[in-house]
This record gives sequence, structure tokens and C-alpha cells, in this order.
Amino acid sequence: MVGQMKAHIVLAHPDARSFNGHLANLSHNTLTAAGYDCTLSDLYGMDFDPREGAHQYRFREDEAVFHPQSEQRFNAQNGTTPEDVAAEITRLLGCDLLVVHFPLWWFGPPAILKGWMDRVFVYGRVYRSTMRYDTGIGAGKRMIACVTTGASADNCAHNGREGDTRLHLWPILYPFRYLGMDVLEPEVMHGVGSTAFMEGHEGGLSGLEEYSDRWRSVLQNLPSRQSVRYNSDREFDERKRLLPDAPSHTPFIRHRQDFG
Ligand SMILES: Cc1cc2nc3c(=O)[nH]c(=O)nc-3n(C[C@H](O)[C@H](O)[C@H](O)COP(=O)(O)O)c2cc1C
Repeated sequence: MVGQMKAHIVLAHPDARSFNGHLANLSHNTLTAAGYDCTLSDLYGMDFDPREGAHQYRFREDEAVFHPQSEQRFNAQNGTTPEDVAAEITRLLGCDLLVVHFPLWWFGPPAILKGWMDRVFVYGRVYRSTMRYDTGIGAGKRMIACVTTGASADNCAHNGREGDTRLHLWPILYPFRYLGMDVLEPEVMHGVGSTAFMEGHEGGLSGLEEYSDRWRSVLQNLPSRQSVRYNSDREFDERKRLLPDAPSHTPFIRHRQDFG
């Protein structure tokens, strides 16, 4: 018998009653109904501390100088990874599907989500030089981000004044590729005002119902969702430069230095 699929949802929003909170609940309900065993990390609700630093560690490899990767590896090897991080790693490595919900804040993720990555993607446990990209620990897992922006779709388009949101998302998605996951095309919902939806505020919700319906349908049709295209390890030379005949899938890794 095939075991039950597991989904882990990460929510990075200060108010669970926000539209992002609503979408995270929708994910939980939709995926549970689809047969997934679902867990949710509401990072603000958990008061997750996003700051990697000496204050996180009771045991140190080097008491004099705090080197984050050295301490992460040392504590992973000794079974003394901070408990909140260890719990997140269990959920991350135990899931088949990872869903990440966040609003775009200053063209990137809220700091709490970046800090979750800084702390949870533990060197020596979740990645190392021989365990990343094609050989990453996340091979076989799918990941999808659901992102809201305050700015309109036109404003966030490839030629919009805010800059191309799809490009702004490249750096936040790449760590999941680094871990070896199959990163699905993110779902981006534009023009979401932060007060447009609050629980009990029916008028606000109605404007966003279309987005909710679309997101539900995305989750119900994940097998047909396109994956983000990344170069494979063998498309780089020994110096880690893109091979001349390899395709370039993103302006972040391209053949010409200038932007032509
Ligand atoms: C600190 C901060 C920075 C923001 N930066 C951006 C931004 O760079 N681009 C954008 O389109 N909206 C930006 N916004 C608007 C949010 O993306 C928007 O309020 C959010 O997507 C609405 O979702 P919510 O109702 O769940 O909060 C920002 C909001 C805050 C609070």
C-alpha cells in the first residue's frame, strides 16, 4: 500500500486573518480533502526567531568566533540543533509537497521567511557541497510558492514600473532548487491590498474570491503544474560556468555579461 502523501505549509504573515492567512487555510483544507496529511508552520504565530546567531546555540564548536555554517554543522552532528529548527527540518524533510505563502515585501519575502531559510536549511544536515542541486536532499519533493503583491499585474509585468515580479521571485525560489526540490511555477496574485480581506469582512473577501478559486484549482491540479526550469549540474563546467551550448533559462544565469 502506498503511504499517505504529506504536505507542509509555511505561512509568513503577521496576521492569520489576512488574505495570506486565508490562503494558507485554504491550502490546508484543500490538500487535506485531497488526501494529504497536512502540517502548517505559521511562522509569526509560532513566534519563530528568524535571526541566525550565537544566541541560538547552547553548544559551540568555537566559543570565540561565531561562524554560522560551522556551528550549524557541529550542532547537527551532535544532535544539538535548536529544537525549533529541528522540528522544522523534520517537517521539511518529511513532506512530499511544500507550500509557502507570503506577501511580497520590498520586492522580496518577509524577513521571517528568509530567516526561516537561514536557520532551517542547516549546513551539514540539509545541504553540503556533495548534496545540493541535482543531488540535493529534496529530490522527489515538490515545492510551490503562493505570493501576493499590493501592486497591480500591469505594474508587476516584465515592463512594469515595479519590475518583473517573476524575476524578483527567482532568488527566493532558488534555495529550494539548491536543496534539490522540484520547484513548481509560483502562483502570484496581484493588487491585493492588505486590508482588503479580514475575517468577517465579507465585502473584502468577495473581491478576492476569484484568487481563492484559482488557488484551490492550482492545488487540485498540481500534477499538471509546470516546473520552473533550471540548468542541470552537467550544464556547468568544472569552474561552475554555464557551458556555451547549454540553454539559459533565466537572466540570472546567462551567456552574455551585458543585458543586451
Ligand atoms: C513592508 C511592506 C513592504 C511591501 N512591499 C511591497 C512590494 O515591494 N511590492 C508590492 O507589490 N507590494 C508590497 N507591499 C504590499 C503587500 O504585498 C500587500 O499588502 C500584501 O500582498 C497583501 O496581502 P495581505 O492582505 O495578506 O497582507 C508591501 C507591504 C509591506 C507591509
